[in-house]
Amino acid sequence: MVSELLKLNSEWKLKVRESFAINQLTQKAIAENLSISKSSVSKFVNSQPIAANNFIRICQALDLDWGTASQEEPQNASLIKFKFKDADFKVNPGGEIPPQEIVGRENLIETIWDRLQQQSLILIGERRIGKSSTLKKMATEAAEDMLPIYRDLEGIRSPIEFVEKVWQDIELYLQQEGKATRVRNFLSQIQGSQFTGFRFSEIAQDHWKKLLTFAIEDVITLQTKQLVFIWDEMPHMLENFADESAMEMLDTLRSLRQTYPDIRMIFSGSIGLHHIFKNLQQSGYRNDPTNDMFTIDGQPLTLDDATELAASLLEGENIATLNIQKSAREIAEAVDCIPFYIHHLINQLKSIDTEVTHSDIVNTVEECLQNPLNPWKMDHYRERIDNYYTEDQKPYVLNILDLLAINPPISFQQLWKILHSDPQTNNKEMSRTILRLLMKDYYLTQTGSLYCFRYHLVQQYWRLSRGL
Ligand SMILES: Nc1ncnc2c1ncn2[C@@H]1O[C@H](COP(=O)(O)OP(=O)(O)O)[C@@H](O)[C@H]1O
Ligand SMILES: [Mg+2]
Repeated sequence: MVSELLKLNSEWKLKVRESFAINQLTQKAIAENLSISKSSVSKFVNSQPIAANNFIRICQALDLDWGTASQEEPQNASLIKFKFKDADFKVNPGGEIPPQEIVGRENLIETIWDRLQQQSLILIGERRIGKSSTLKKMATEAAEDMLPIYRDLEGIRSPIEFVEKVWQDIELYLQQEGKATRVRNFLSQIQGSQFTGFRFSEIAQDHWKKLLTFAIEDVITLQTKQLVFIWDEMPHMLENFADESAMEMLDTLRSLRQTYPDIRMIFSGSIGLHHIFKNLQQSGYRNDPTNDMFTIDGQPLTLDDATELAASLLEGENIATLNIQKSAREIAEAVDCIPFYIHHLINQLKSIDTEVTHSDIVNTVEECLQNPLNPWKMDHYRERIDNYYTEDQKPYVLNILDLLAINPPISFQQLWKILHSDPQTNNKEMSRTILRLLMKDYYLTQTGSLYCFRYHLVQQYWRLSRGL
């Protein structure tokens, strides 16, 4: 039986907004389609209670599971802890996880908000380190006076597609259709008839810069919150663009940040922007379009948070251990506290019938790294070298990584002694350049004068997969 009134769990607000965008719906359209009042839809979106039958129908229209969307929220911090311990965490490597299952990241999120007081920023970091999860959690938990708009840009192939998404997101945030007049007026003007749709027509294509400016003007003039665009997989999108469009986009976004100094942008993504810039420079691009942005280097979870995630997953999956805290910590350490691999490893440990031991953990990691079916997608570390390094650079990359895979941290002098004896890697300055690039691409790190792999897991993969 459902109770008479239901309300949206506020942690679902972001998901609801995404569903509006994905399904190309507005509050007005839902109200009309379902023959319910606009105020009910507005209440739904704002997590106020509405009639259960309307709640369920709206969720259905938005492709959302109404049961989970209406789940009660914890009332205070001690309840959150209680809920956390009792929640049935399930492994879901790489999948979308609900915000309440995104563990930790409080300090990082606080650092991001602090930094946003001053400037826009770029959140970089190795693939699957947890950047998107952090940004989604941040958007869900934003303070009342903040307006974060999260959008994954993967798959967007042209500037106009990007602008259309930005505008759709903005219209949804403005909530009452018709308010965002600049974009609609401009589209009406260029097409010669009233524009009433939710998708741009082809004619809009040549006007993307104007449309982007109008969309941003609409949102900054029509509401008072601090606007933060969170654009995930930005480098991926730019890579999909023709070079000229990518350059224009970067310049346009920079000039928007200058013209409207109150808006903030976060670019995130796993492909380093330096690769995108390098390609654009080859096409003659000379600008430095992100020099006004602050870069934050995303890290794995802290050991405590990684252990907490592992413990919750072991518990949620009913995996037997002798001492859950101890096993959780061993799991966290075995995968360098990277949450994606914690999910994966525990997924694998499910198939062990007896109590999981330390050697089960170590052996399972090794098996997964060695498995030619590449279940942890580690081959990416080898494959991307072919994409991002030139033919001249590749022997340096492979020699350096091979050396570091089987040695303790070593200095440049020690590395150079070995590199220069190979005719393919006997240029000293090139060796230094490659070391720096490998650090930018998260393979290596430098402590004092010593170089080593940034992640033990990647070192282990490299050693095993290359038979070293
Ligand atoms: N803080 C976290 N708590 C729990 N699981 C996480 C966390 N961060 C990431 N994950 C898991 O790792 C996967 C990859 O994380 P994601 O945020 O997509 O990484 P990135 O954006 O850096 O590539 C997620 O799908 C999720 O399963
Ligand atoms: Mg991501």
